Amino acid sequence: MYNIAIIPGDGIGAEIIREGRKVIEAASSKFGLEIKWNEYPFGAEHYLKTGELMPDTALKEIEDMSAIYLGAVGDPRVKPGILEKEILLKTRFYFDQFINLRPIKLYKGVPSPLKDKNPEDINFYVVRENTEDFYVGIGGRFNARANQDHLEVLRKLYKAKIQVDFNLEAEEEMAYQVGFISRPGTQRVIKYAFELAKKKKMKRVSSVDKANVLTNIYGLWRDVFKEISTQYPDIETEFTFVDAITMWFVRKPEWFKVVVAPNMFGDIITDLGAMIQGGLGIAAGGNINPEGVSMFEPIHGSAPKYKDKSIANPVATILAGAMMLDCLGEVKIAKVIEDAVEKVLIEGKVRSHDLGGDSSTIEVGDEVVRKLKLSL
Ligand code: IPM
Ligand code: MN
Repeated sequence: MYNIAIIPGDGIGAEIIREGRKVIEAASSKFGLEIKWNEYPFGAEHYLKTGELMPDTALKEIEDMSAIYLGAVGDPRVKPGILEKEILLKTRFYFDQFINLRPIKLYKGVPSPLKDKNPEDINFYVVRENTEDFYVGIGGRFNARANQDHLEVLRKLYKAKIQVDFNLEAEEEMAYQVGFISRPGTQRVIKYAFELAKKKKMKRVSSVDKANVLTNIYGLWRDVFKEISTQYPDIETEFTFVDAITMWFVRKPEWFKVVVAPNMFGDIITDLGAMIQGGLGIAAGGNINPEGVSMFEPIHGSAPKYKDKSIANPVATILAGAMMLDCLGEVKIAKVIEDAVEKVLIEGKVRSHDLGGDSSTIEVGDEVVRKLKLSL
């Protein structure tokens, strides 16, 4: 039996997570697996009503559960950054989910916007670091008169380098945000990427950075990558700059097998990855702590304008559910779900709007369940 925390969240969150849950229930009951869902109301609605975001008491409770299944958070009524930082990032950090695993896989039956690229050409993993880099939240926005502390920090950091001559009387606004990575934090994610390549029999690990400009943090990243790679002599390696890799994702996606990236670049390149695999409606992700509580979610957002229209594609959420079961060790059930999704996509009779069809969110979920039942 698994105890799973479920957070539908905002916008289309409730609709897609309902389908994900339906599919997981259908598959697991066939295998005699019992799942207890513990639903939490966190998200914009709850925040606007109660002022509560992600309380520590809930996180504490979830510590004893097997995983978290998340819809999406984000709402135009709430200033950007609040829900993202206080719900999503807080949970990732609290459970030290240092891996953000994002498969980039073009399923059969899904059109890719890349001309002449087929499912065999687009099938790789992005392993995104998920707890460090520019996401640590160190920085400030201030003016010199009002906040001497920030000014002192900046003075120490930049010394003569800074071009602005700080004038203590100045009212001009300034802002800074610091990227931070650590050797152990980098080691564990790069190690995970190599182990994944080994497990999946993939022959290449590509590292992403911007070590030609951000020489400090990504210099350390590169050193660690080099060190870890020596433990895997059978796996080919390369360094790519983040700007260049966006070009190569489009030009030659078949080159990539496992891509390992620092947090922010990983965030950016996986939206591009989602597009080449047929869109955000398909792309799933897992925030993983291999020894702790992991959280699975579609990588798309809450799409508030599609809320309650039943037009959102639940496939990304369903695939995130399969990933959750896979990570819990229920490899067979996960595979059954993924295969059922693929059958629906190949057949194309039931197809959501983003893929050019007119089926509702519920119809897609139901069809996955039907295919799944037929296959067992
Ligand atoms: C993602 C999202 C989040 C991120 C936001 C909502 C904080 O874009 O999961 O990719 O940047 O990690
Ligand atoms: Mn993102």
